[in-house]
Amino acid sequence: MGERPGPAEAAHYNHALMTISEERSRRPVEDRLEELRGKRAEAELAGGKQAIAKQHERGKLTARERIAKLLDADSFVETDQLVRHRSHGFGIENKRPLSDAVVTGWGTIDGRKVFVFAQDFTVFGGSLGEVMGEKICKIMDLALQTGAPVIGLNDSGGARIQEGAASLAGYGYIFDRNVRSSGVIPQISAIMGPCAGGAVYSPAMTDFTFMVSETSHMFITGPEVIRAVTGEAVTQEELGGAMSHASKSGVAHFVAADDEDCLRQVRYLMSFLPSNNFESPPYFPPTDDPMRFCDELLELLPESPNQPYDMHQVISSIFDDGEFFEVHPHWGQNLLCGFSRLAGHPVGIVANQPQVLAGCLDITSSTKGGRFVRFCDAFNIPLVTFVDVPGFLPGTEQEYGGIIRHGSKLLYAFSEATVPRMTVITRKAYGGAYVVMNSKHIRSDVSFAWPSAQIAVMGAEGAVNIIQRKEIAGAEDADAKRSELIADYETRFSNPYIAAERGYVDDVIEPQTTRRRLVQSLEMLRSKRETIPQRKHGNIPL
Ligand code: HXC
Repeated sequence: MGERPGPAEAAHYNHALMTISEERSRRPVEDRLEELRGKRAEAELAGGKQAIAKQHERGKLTARERIAKLLDADSFVETDQLVRHRSHGFGIENKRPLSDAVVTGWGTIDGRKVFVFAQDFTVFGGSLGEVMGEKICKIMDLALQTGAPVIGLNDSGGARIQEGAASLAGYGYIFDRNVRSSGVIPQISAIMGPCAGGAVYSPAMTDFTFMVSETSHMFITGPEVIRAVTGEAVTQEELGGAMSHASKSGVAHFVAADDEDCLRQVRYLMSFLPSNNFESPPYFPPTDDPMRFCDELLELLPESPNQPYDMHQVISSIFDDGEFFEVHPHWGQNLLCGFSRLAGHPVGIVANQPQVLAGCLDITSSTKGGRFVRFCDAFNIPLVTFVDVPGFLPGTEQEYGGIIRHGSKLLYAFSEATVPRMTVITRKAYGGAYVVMNSKHIRSDVSFAWPSAQIAVMGAEGAVNIIQRKEIAGAEDADAKRSELIADYETRFSNPYIAAERGYVDDVIEPQTTRRRLVQSLEMLRSKRETIPQRKHGNIPL
């Protein structure tokens, strides 16, 4: 153990310190600026040129390049660039790059403020340690306090192994902020590299997740662990690649071809969203005539009600410039969800797709629709629903899978929504599925039916087979009798007029007038205010 310094050593030491500090204060300002600039340059190359080259070789941009492409030119203001980790162990104390493994700050998209964090895979594989957690939490707090969206660009090996429990705590602090921000500010995740273990829960709790084809992966346990535990052999791409999550699990809402495409799509999504739950979504003056007739809709429906047609065509005909930014285009395809604009105002669209499963609602589509409706409601985005639904999908797979519980999610979501809600029934509106699909009975504000609409408990054939079974069985020619009864039922019930007589639809409209009728209705509903009973929160059937 060394001896305590005596007064002589202390004086000498103090003198040396004073000399250094005098020299420092005498240094011209340029020297100080140079020091700062040197640090900034060091931070910008934190992972080193080799790691950056490797990142590029993999077809990935660096964290800073990504931010530059995401935000408006020269709008990025960086926070905590000069932060270094303060951990020890496994030699990590000898490697303390500036900025650590994440770039954070704020900037603008189309002139509107957003907060952003981009994990830097070139530093410790983008792994999350204590200070990365602190940096991300700092901008999440600012975003919540100032009412601006948070966009996270994820590219990370997960919890920083050397930092142990501090890494796990960092995730916990982020998850907690995700939850507190939910429904207050939009939260967007782009997965642009690995995203494994508990790290996936932050993106999962954000509103929308983008994944980049081939370079991004998400899973709780990787292929090696799966092989060891279950014996299942699966590749990383099959398990957690972009298309697996976009088409099988529904974790990914959007798939991008590469980094640039991903960042462009994030910017596009932002053009539909308000900055927070107190704002209206952004208005862009329309170039498409709001009163335009959609004559092509007159030709769209097939002769037979059992033949499919593409609901995308209905949407592209009606909305501004045929625009439709589809959410989850590869998952639950029997229900279309996405954003468009009506006379320049963003709207959320939910529509049955007769081309897939005849447009029936099932577990996947109900879950997909329920979440989308709740997002729109949280962020003041009016809803337009198109109905052509023969019912819920029958079968043991659906029943055992809990269609009752999952179907209720869509019902719950529509029913609790207080944003302007409009419905157009194009053809079939049968049974419980009709009620669920934003019907007047669960307080749709404006409900229209085309003359081709059939609002009934079920289709004609199913109905006569149940209620007129004895009559059919007792007839001389059962088939002829059945056909006669079906025709009779169709004439009496397969139309919109019984519902219209009762005011269950506000009007039966000519299809080509749908755009102008929706534009007028949206204009009328713009000042809608509806309050719901005070409560801590509802209990949606999860
Ligand atoms: C510390 C890490 C790291 C990590 C990667 N690195 N992951 N450092 N903690 N979690 C470092 C590597 O040591 C390497 O450093 C550099 O990052 C690049 O990694 P490579 O392995 O060379 O890259 P690549 O071959 O592309 O593989 C990437 C990878 C792999 C697939 C992400 O590194 C990997 O499997 N990492 C571990 C993933 C993991 O199991 N994470 C913990 C998950 S559990 P050098 O210095 O050599 O360049 C979790 C719990 C969270 O996250 C719980 C929250 C509640």
